Amino acid sequence: MTQQPARQIKLGAILAGVGADHSIWRDPELPGDASINIDWYIQNARLAEAAKFDLVFIVDSPFITPDTAPHFLNRLEPLTLLSALAVSTSKIGLVATLTTSYWEPYNVARQFASLDQISHGRAGWNVVTTGLEGAARNYGREEHFDHAVRYERAKEFVEVVQGLWDSYEDDAFPRDKVAGVFLDKAKQHALNHKGKHFSVAGPLALSRSKQGQPVIFQAGDSSAGRDLGAAIAEAVFAGVEGFEDAQAYYADLKGRAAALGRNPDHITVLPGLTPIIADTDEEAQAIAEAQLGALDVNKLLVQLGRAFGYHDFSAYPLDEAFPDVSNLSLNSYKGRAERIIRVAREENLTLRQAAYRFGVWRTDFVGSPKTIADAIERWFVGRACDGFNLMVGRPRDFAVFLEKVVPILQERGLFRTEYEHDTLRGHLGLPVPENRWTRVETALQAAE
Ligand SMILES: Cc1cc2nc3c(=O)[nH]c(=O)nc-3n(C[C@H](O)[C@H](O)[C@H](O)COP(=O)(O)O)c2cc1C
Repeated sequence: MTQQPARQIKLGAILAGVGADHSIWRDPELPGDASINIDWYIQNARLAEAAKFDLVFIVDSPFITPDTAPHFLNRLEPLTLLSALAVSTSKIGLVATLTTSYWEPYNVARQFASLDQISHGRAGWNVVTTGLEGAARNYGREEHFDHAVRYERAKEFVEVVQGLWDSYEDDAFPRDKVAGVFLDKAKQHALNHKGKHFSVAGPLALSRSKQGQPVIFQAGDSSAGRDLGAAIAEAVFAGVEGFEDAQAYYADLKGRAAALGRNPDHITVLPGLTPIIADTDEEAQAIAEAQLGALDVNKLLVQLGRAFGYHDFSAYPLDEAFPDVSNLSLNSYKGRAERIIRVAREENLTLRQAAYRFGVWRTDFVGSPKTIADAIERWFVGRACDGFNLMVGRPRDFAVFLEKVVPILQERGLFRTEYEHDTLRGHLGLPVPENRWTRVETALQAAE
């Protein structure tokens, strides 16, 4: 009997240049132009690859204000960026965030299929519906799509993209120079999709990579967001708060996937991870407190407001109860906004407390390398996650994680010491999806 390989932690590295908060950019070791500096991205992608990470992850959104956090203010477009990383690395997965609310499926199918070919099967698409209402005005609309409509569009969008990715069966191109046959026309398939939101004929002018199709990631926390993840995601970026919350999310998402007839093991759950690591737990706690103390509460209010479509929280008294914002439409980061309102009510938070709680990337992971490794193991073994998406922030923190935390996980047999595969699907233990037309053909032949 062949032995089942032990379940392994999956690790992603979020390359967010000068940081998705308002403080990291001031770190003396971090280049001020990191978010637009391809050399910074290449250097960090190579570090993650040397440590055998599963993937690098690029967040994105198509709307900013003057108060937006530094990385978001001035950054590279994800697919262009990942094309450069594809030729600067050879094993690590490359995941880009792209919204289904303001693109066309044909374009998106083509872009990701291209990245998948350029990277020899390492591409992933993080499907988001865009939380920021101002994005509408960058795409010829006065108003953002309604939350429910965004998710309805997203589902159809992904189905169309995946249909386009199967335009060619894997043996569609004989390229027989002697016989003069480049394409076997029977193996090219038009999609002819006509749905509620999209009408796409196809075929797409691009064949599949060695991993079949790019891996579908997804990020969205509301009930509709989780339903979408359960239906289409092969990995999710989870916005969870603490161990118990993460366990509940994990069970809920995988339960929803199982109810749809999917194998729950084929969804990798990756919460964000922003550890603060020092030689001792006491030192790490002191750093965490100092970092918190250095934060400007006005900037935290902006970050808090982002979940509510950049609602202006500076208009309310800081040390009184979290304001009643029930009149807001919550058409932005709905899941997160609902979470903030619920926790503020349950724990009687003031606005200031809510700003410190939700305006920063909060972390339960503070301590020595061993403490961090213990916490990671606890979450992983306790089915609160299948791994983590590590926020690459201060250079020293990333270096310490790679040099001191990863080896502990490896010694414990929880994380790989060598790549076993060279595709993103391979790293995540996902099957290569059979081309739908080949599947039908095979089934017909078997029935004859
Ligand atoms: C952890 C997490 C990460 C997200 N990352 C992005 C992102 O990079 N870009 C983006 O436009 N939206 C992002 N979203 C927003 C979602 O796609 C979605 O539009 C928004 O959260 C509203 O959906 P929800 O109420 O289901 O969370 C993220 C959401 C979550 C929970």
